[in-house]
Amino acid sequence: MRAARCEEYGGPEQVVVREVPAPEVTPGHVLVDVAAAAVNFPDLLFIADRYQVSVGLPFTPGSEFSGTVAAVGEGVVGFAPGDRVHGSVVTGAMAEQVLAPARSIAPVPAGLSMVEAAAFRVTYLTAYHALVTAGAVEPGQWVVVLGAAGGVGTACVDVATRLGARVIAAASSPERLQVATKLGAEAGIDYVAEDLKTRIKEITGGAGADLVVDPVGDRWAEPALRAIRWGGRFVTIGFAGGEIPRIPLNLVLLKNVTVRGLELRTWVERLPEENARAREGLAQLVADGMRPLVSEVHELDDVATALRRVAERIPTAKVVISIGAEEKQ
Ligand SMILES: NC(=O)c1ccc[n+]([C@@H]2O[C@H](COP(=O)([O-])OP(=O)(O)OC[C@H]3O[C@@H](n4cnc5c(N)ncnc54)[C@H](OP(=O)(O)O)[C@@H]3O)[C@@H](O)[C@H]2O)c1
Repeated sequence: MRAARCEEYGGPEQVVVREVPAPEVTPGHVLVDVAAAAVNFPDLLFIADRYQVSVGLPFTPGSEFSGTVAAVGEGVVGFAPGDRVHGSVVTGAMAEQVLAPARSIAPVPAGLSMVEAAAFRVTYLTAYHALVTAGAVEPGQWVVVLGAAGGVGTACVDVATRLGARVIAAASSPERLQVATKLGAEAGIDYVAEDLKTRIKEITGGAGADLVVDPVGDRWAEPALRAIRWGGRFVTIGFAGGEIPRIPLNLVLLKNVTVRGLELRTWVERLPEENARAREGLAQLVADGMRPLVSEVHELDDVATALRRVAERIPTAKVVISIGAEEKQ
């Protein structure tokens, strides 16, 4: 089969397309003919060997995919060849076939194309858990989304708006904020040109935010935390900005803020009930018309370009790689 391969750690240009042996189905796993794979920021960290866990060379990047079940391993129930599924793995999705643990795949929600389904699983599940499971968001509450024009960011704006929250989007330019506004954000903050804490306070009429969802970290986490109301919540998802911030704990103490971490990979493994609830919640939102925003679709041969676009902060919303000929609605 054809697969993207990282043969040397480095930037997107290190990723090439090669002919490699297809994976064999193993107990508890499902072999999927991949229709599409999405690009996520952690893919860049894996190929640079800067992720929390290291992946040995050579490997196939890609954590989020959609496709059709080709074979099911011993002990797998609920899936059969031909089923339309989407799922997540640590690496391996940017290939014509991927082997995934059965618990990491799910039927494609009715109404989603394969391209949309590939852009949905990691991003929207992360967003839903950040907002609902960890963030306990309520209708009418002020939710600040940092990196609001990115993959997770747009999903957070989309889901939060649909759950009735009042969203303040923060991104690095007015153009990038437009995508969040289209998704229903009530206000936008250009966090390069404006003071994040001051603007959040102004927009919320001095009250402060109820919830901050942070996939960016770096120099933006602390001002956002300082703009939370007494008893508010801060959910940390990632550090796309580069630096892992060091937050003074007195800020947490004085305002009785709850800080929650969320790592989807371990949540999927350890919290089956919460994941089932999240999937149900998302399926309802899809039934009500929610669709993930895909801003670019590339062919597998252009995988390095797709990765470079994300590394350069160019896309608004998700970048998807179209792989299988089966369906590209
Ligand atoms: N915890 C989890 O389970 C989980 C799951 C998925 C993703 N993540 C993490 O969430 C973060 C976002 O992932 P994503 O896939 O949504 O990525 P993405 O689409 O590339 O979005 C990241 C956003 O961060 C902002 N950003 C600020 N400084 C940046 C920098 N120096 N380089 C690149 N982007 C920068 C960019 O927006 P502006 O230019 O507008 O600032 C960009 O839109 C990543 O840290 C990723 O590792 C975590």
